[in-house]
Amino acid sequence: MQHFNIAVDGPAGAGKSTIAKAVAEKLGFIYVDTGAMYRAMALYFLRCGIGPSEEERITKACGQVDITIRYEDGLQQVILNGENVSGQIRTEEVGKMASATSVYLPVREKLVELQKALAKTADVIMDGRDIGTCVLPDAQAKIYLTASVAVRGKRRFDELTAKGVPCSLEEIEADIEKRDYQDMHREHSPLKQAEDAVLLDSSDLSIQQVIDRIIRIAVEHGLSVRGN
Ligand code: DC
Repeated sequence: MQHFNIAVDGPAGAGKSTIAKAVAEKLGFIYVDTGAMYRAMALYFLRCGIGPSEEERITKACGQVDITIRYEDGLQQVILNGENVSGQIRTEEVGKMASATSVYLPVREKLVELQKALAKTADVIMDGRDIGTCVLPDAQAKIYLTASVAVRGKRRFDELTAKGVPCSLEEIEADIEKRDYQDMHREHSPLKQAEDAVLLDSSDLSIQQVIDRIIRIAVEHGLSVRGN
């Protein structure tokens, strides 16, 4: 049976995971967070004391890493060599390392293979940077979700402040710009809008509005929703 795949790409902080998770729940799809896989790889490199530019060591380390995912109460858990590391990958340090090490082909090849295999087993909404362009080029619906740097910075600032983490809005915005640049200008599978993706700018939209638009786009691309 042909599964329905929704690809969501976009820069850091555009709200991809919050929105993709909600869409998955609404449609009964599996949500696949590919950034979490790059983060788990990055965590492994950090634990080994490998620096972000040590390409040779990173290539070698790829052979020692086994990443899998499983679902608990519908939530994706990332397993790194048998250990559930989902609680340890959400730090700025791991995010930066993931962006820096995702430029290497051996890292990408390993994770893309896993991602493609997952999409064959179920209806999925998968988010990342290269899903519409590279991982699932035949996805029935593709979304490029973005928002201005100011809006993304403010969202991240509010999130960290709510957690009691001291932070500066200026630094957050500078980090976002750096990460955008890195993700958009790397050699292999850079972040870019697929030709057949629908551009959605969430700067002035509520979460619910973005969720509704994505579901509408999926329906326009052939998804049949019960009760529709
Ligand atoms: O979405 P995120 O912030 O969790 O992703 C962390 C980094 O992983 C991101 O800056 C670039 C990399 N990444 C990637 O190269 N390709 C993907 N499909 C997903 C993430």
